[in-house]
Amino acid sequence: MDVALGIDIGGTGMKAAPVDVTTGRLLGERFRIPTPQPSTPEAMAAVVRDLDRHFTDITGGRGPVGVAFPAVVRSGVVHSAANIDSSWMGADAASAFSEAVGRPVVVVNDADAAGIAEMSFGAGRGRSGLVITLTLGTGIGSGMFMDGVLVPNTEFGHLEFRGESVERYAAASAMEREELPWEDWADRVGEFLDMVDRLFSPDMVILGGGVSREPERWFHRIDTRFETVIAAMANHAGVVGAAMAAV
Ligand code: BGC
Repeated sequence: MDVALGIDIGGTGMKAAPVDVTTGRLLGERFRIPTPQPSTPEAMAAVVRDLDRHFTDITGGRGPVGVAFPAVVRSGVVHSAANIDSSWMGADAASAFSEAVGRPVVVVNDADAAGIAEMSFGAGRGRSGLVITLTLGTGIGSGMFMDGVLVPNTEFGHLEFRGESVERYAAASAMEREELPWEDWADRVGEFLDMVDRLFSPDMVILGGGVSREPERWFHRIDTRFETVIAAMANHAGVVGAAMAAV
């Protein structure tokens, strides 16, 4: 059994669990701490330290650590800051988190991590062709897989729609902010999926994020020319994918 600690950082919560990366199973109950506001590198690194310490009984404070981070991340360095404090721009997240936990940490984009988990253990398992995984949360994250191979750091949520980024219009947070009924929000997701269709002609799209836990409220409104399914790993995908990226 290969075990790694997976940490999934979102706009509102930072979640962690030790993961058996050969099966995708969590080896302890997922632990969540609200994302600090402002979400500066120092404040978030302190939470990463607390999350790591919470699981010392299981990990012994040793072993690989992977972090799923809500931004473009190349070689551990952050290159965008849509839903996190702007002081992250250009910051070396891998070094900051490694210092916090006292051992090496691998940092990847959160939606790429969730996509990796879905493709290995969830709704995309064994699927070839062009598969796009989307997370609908504070922002919209995307993972793009050709025959199971990830093209990292795609940012479909930042495609422009009616003069603003489409995540402003169709992320789950837009429903809350604008007090939209579920059906109206789902129709916005449908418009976004039409745009994805026109640009990429995917074979399959997997819809994840917190809203994938209650598909009965909205998924019946989604009608696409390609196969669209609900993610199978609910909100564990980020934690599992983060752990997988670390080994
Ligand atoms: C960020 C992405 C991230 C997504 C989901 C977007 O605003 O630009 O990098 O994957 O939110 O957290």
